[in-house]
Amino acid sequence: MKILGIETSCDECAAAIVEDGRTILSNVIATQIPFHAEYNGVVPEIASRKHTEWIYNIVNEAFVQAHLSVSDIDGVAATANPGLLGSLLVGLTFAKTFAWARRIPFIACNHILAHLYAAQLCNNHLCNDNLKYPFLGLLVSGGHTIICRALDFDNIEILGTTIDDAAGEAFDKVSKHFQMGYPGGKYIDGLAKSGDSDVFSFPLPNLHKGGHRCDVSYSGLKTAVINQTEQFRKKGTPGIIPLPDLAASFQKTAVEILLRALFNAVEDSGIKTVVAGGGVAANSYLRERLAEKKELNCIFPPPELCGDNGAMVAGIGFKYLERGEQSPLCVTASARVKGFKRKYP
Ligand code: KG4
Ligand code: ZN
Repeated sequence: MKILGIETSCDECAAAIVEDGRTILSNVIATQIPFHAEYNGVVPEIASRKHTEWIYNIVNEAFVQAHLSVSDIDGVAATANPGLLGSLLVGLTFAKTFAWARRIPFIACNHILAHLYAAQLCNNHLCNDNLKYPFLGLLVSGGHTIICRALDFDNIEILGTTIDDAAGEAFDKVSKHFQMGYPGGKYIDGLAKSGDSDVFSFPLPNLHKGGHRCDVSYSGLKTAVINQTEQFRKKGTPGIIPLPDLAASFQKTAVEILLRALFNAVEDSGIKTVVAGGGVAANSYLRERLAEKKELNCIFPPPELCGDNGAMVAGIGFKYLERGEQSPLCVTASARVKGFKRKYP
């Protein structure tokens, strides 16, 4: 069964065709970063206008790269929530129209569940065949930081989340302060490689008590890094700001914050398989730290499937269809997620 997946929840305009929820036949991702970079963040109005301009060509390219025509498609899936409303509506409306015109099933998907599904796609014939539920999900992106217990592809219990900034947001804000570029995760990741992570000692949040054992907080770390950088700036010689050491020390603490919450979730749940997803899951230091944990089975999507893409949407769309479920064409987009249960220890 071949599914077309469309993702336009934020600033990537993406479409993919995936067979049987596993094999990627095409995966086209057009980033709008150059149009938002000068604002150091995504401008919703620009994002939805660019999606409107690009969506037809992106979907068309997905067909060209897969060597398929519209009559080969068995279903269309699109991200319906959460995300920027105007952006979501572009991909969702395109998908619904396609499904209606072709008289094929349409599936509205949740972006967070799709990110968690990404690790189950086959990439260049590499498949995580033995992935069994339940597992722990580590969803870390620009908009979300969620540690959850995944009971099925569409059923997660939230064990922990951020009480302020998302993990990717912290990378983006620190990068902005370093005047390095947007989105900042990959710049900080790259810069940290030439720095010493022991030069600065940044504070860890003190919130792992009671119901907060698996929660994270990034605002204190972000402020500490910015204040430390400002102290160097005030001394007046920009060349002497040790940005690589600051980046490495920040990244080490940011990852430590995540891991402390994740290891609490492992301890509380007894689950030893961790599946990561979201843009920050591409972080090389996070991947290294989890690879050292031999007692855990940590599964990461390849870096190109960590960020927003249409393949994860097509993949999870297939899982619904396989179960005989589809969405009515009256489904609309929503900026927020509803229905995930928070579970306290
Ligand atoms: O999943 P994603 O593409 O979009 C959202 O759903 O938010 O994630 C984007 C986020 C950005 O904050 C970006 O800075 C971060 O992922 N990111 C990284 C890395 N690559 C992307 N953060 C840390 N290290 C990276 N290598
Ligand atoms: Zn995302």
